[in-house]
Amino acid sequence: MLDGLGVDLVEVGRIRRAHNRWGERFLRRVFTVEERAYCMRKAHPEQSLAARFAAKEAVLKAIGTGLSGGIRWTDVEVVNDESGRPGVRLGERITRRIGVKRVLLTISHTRELAIAQAVLLA
Ligand SMILES: CC(C)(COP(=O)(O)OP(=O)(O)OC[C@H]1O[C@@H](n2cnc3c(N)ncnc32)[C@H](O)[C@@H]1OP(=O)(O)O)[C@@H](O)C(=O)NCCC(=O)NCCS
Repeated sequence: MLDGLGVDLVEVGRIRRAHNRWGERFLRRVFTVEERAYCMRKAHPEQSLAARFAAKEAVLKAIGTGLSGGIRWTDVEVVNDESGRPGVRLGERITRRIGVKRVLLTISHTRELAIAQAVLLA
């Protein structure tokens, strides 16, 4: 059963500017080690970083917690399977609040924009 829905749209330039301004500090605060490694292997890392930023926002909307109660950006992790399909790993701070839940995710990006949509399954 569907239990939540979230969407987010991010300008790739916004992520590029944050990266240029804050460097590694920004990356470490928002993205997990695996996410950073995945994006940095890409020809256009900022597009995949922006897509993951959108994905985190979309997931936080779908689960309805936002960043309240100490939840951090890294508590929503985007993991790609062998085919490249993105999935979501929820951190402990989230599962303690809402239980262990499955979230479906789809993302897309261009040079300028990244979009993500998330569905929470009951
Ligand atoms: C994989 C594919 C769908 C990506 O689409 P695209 O237009 O090149 O790129 P988009 O910006 O829209 O999407 C990129 C994102 O798609 C996601 N993606 C990659 N492979 C995927 C797959 N097999 N299933 C679902 N999502 C996938 C990834 O999250 C990727 O972003 P990331 O590399 O930052 O993680 C495309 O390259 C492709 O193979 N198209 C052929 C048609 C097809 O097979 N469509 C059905 C896919 S199941």
